[in-house]
This record gives sequence, C-alpha cells and structure tokens, in this order.
Amino acid sequence: MSTDVLDIGSVPAAWTRRHLLDVESLSAEEINIILDSAVTFKEVTANCAQKIPILAGRTAANLFFEPSTRTRTSFSLAARRLGADTIDFSSSGSSLSKGETFIDTAKNIEAMGIDVVIVRHRTPGTAHLLAQKLNCSVINAGDGPHEHPTQGLLDILSIRERLGHIKGLTVALVGDIAHSRTARSNIWGLKTLGAHVIVCGPSTLVSKRWEELGVEVAYDLDAILPRCDVLNLLRIQFERQTTRPFPSVREYALLYAMNRERLARAKRDILILAPGPINRGVEITPDVADGPHSAILEQVTNGLAVRMAVLWLILGGSS
Ligand code: CP
Repeated sequence: MSTDVLDIGSVPAAWTRRHLLDVESLSAEEINIILDSAVTFKEVTANCAQKIPILAGRTAANLFFEPSTRTRTSFSLAARRLGADTIDFSSSGSSLSKGETFIDTAKNIEAMGIDVVIVRHRTPGTAHLLAQKLNCSVINAGDGPHEHPTQGLLDILSIRERLGHIKGLTVALVGDIAHSRTARSNIWGLKTLGAHVIVCGPSTLVSKRWEELGVEVAYDLDAILPRCDVLNLLRIQFERQTTRPFPSVREYALLYAMNRERLARAKRDILILAPGPINRGVEITPDVADGPHSAILEQVTNGLAVRMAVLWLILGGSS
C-alpha cells in the first residue's frame, strides 16, 4: 500500500498540545480530535497493520518503570508504523542501580536525540514532572493510580465504535476503583463527552467521595446492571494494596464478576470492556471474556490506533 502524509491530512488547528499527560484537562473537542484521528489511522493502515511513514526521522523512547504488555508494545509498534525509530528503556539492568536519579536518567535518554518520551511510573505526577524537566514531548503511559490517558481514550473509542455514540450512555466501571488509573481517565473522558458514569465495587475499594467527581457510586452490581449500556471491568490491583480489601477472591467474584447469569439479566446489547490484563474467573468469566459482548481484543487494536493518533498529533505538526 502506498501511503504518504497527504493521506492523513495535517494536524487540526485546534490541537496545540506538546504533551499528553492526562484526560482530565482535555476538552471534548480535543478528545474527539484524538478519536477521529485514530479512526482515520485505522482506515489508512488497514486496521493498523500497515505502515504510514509520516514520522520518519523522529524517535520515541519508552521509559517504563512498571511492568507492561499492551501499552509498551503498542506504543513501540505505533511509532514504528508511523516510521519513527524507537528506544525501549527498562529500569532493571539500568544505571539507576548505580545511584543515577530518575530525572538524570530521563535527561540522558533525551540527549540521544529523542522527540517524545513515553513514561510509566508508580508515582502519580511523574509524567507532569518530566514535562517540566525535559525539552521533548512527554506522554503519560500510566502514573501510579492517577491516570492512564491512552487507555481511557481507547476504551472510549471502543465504546463509540460499537455503540455509535457516547452522550447519554450509562457506563459502569466495576472493581478496584481506588487503585485504578484507568478508572480516572475513563471518568474524565466519558463525563466530558456526556456519559453517565457509575463506579461500582466493594466499599473498601469505592469511596462515597467519588461522587465529588460527578459520578454515581454503587456497591450492588446486580442492582445497577439493568441500567448499564457498558461495563468496564477493572482488575483488582493486589500489587498496590497493603491489606486485603475483601475476605476472598471467591467472594469478590460472586458479587462482582461478569458471568453468564448476569449477562442474561443485562441489556441485550450490553458492551463488556476490560483494560487488561484480565484475571479470568475474578472480574470476568472466560465465556463472557471470549463472547460476542466482549470488546477486549478490539480495545487492543484501538489502542494501537489511538497511540498512532497521539504520536502524530504531538509530533506531526512540529519540526
Ligand atoms: N492495560 C494496560 O495498561 O496493560 P499493560 O499494563 O499490559 O500495559
């Protein structure tokens, strides 16, 4: 396939950002620019399978200080599909173990001629800090429990693709809301686009104070299920917890796992999302995860499209 910069057009004038640090600060217009650009990239690259080398000569660096399968691979592939070079930095085996600071590490990577740093770190605010300290662009790939902007955007794109719109939908985020950066990015994006958002889970993981963000708080999944157009099932993040938030995983699954019985009581066209990694049998049963209501693997493809769009918007318009 022959593709060049003319196929994709130029970056919309309304897009002026050098960084993507959160969804909270994005306007509805900016979110729609990202989603519409992602759709265009899916179309011109045959569902993200082919190259469109509009970022040739640019270099993207992945700086991941936490584990990742989807986000890291997806950003690397997205950059390469756009013709950019990529660097993959891992904290294990790096000179951080010799006492080099995080900022010095980032500055040294930037000094190799990097145009954009994609950072994941356990500390909230890390991407914002790097945006202040570095001259290159910065994309937040997850900062502790704060935000995971491209995950929120790919979730919203997957909803829009299947259901046609966002405004007026009821979307429930179910599970470990307390520790979920995906929840926060979904909440900001969905609310900005006019959805009604419910956060649902055990009271140890869902504080009433979430209502302050303008979302509905629920503890009984079966009570809200008939109203929901979309369920986004969030993983229980045991690695971020110091105490067990419920007596057993089995009890959690009984109350909150999406299974065949609950599916039968949901809206006929309910959409099931899960950001991954999924724990089969905990937040979702295998038959639902692999069934027709699930968009789990579409989310992964849409992740590639959203990341191509974000890299292009951030780098495509500036030299
Ligand atoms: N959804 C998500 O962020 O997955 P990874 O942790 O594998 O990147």
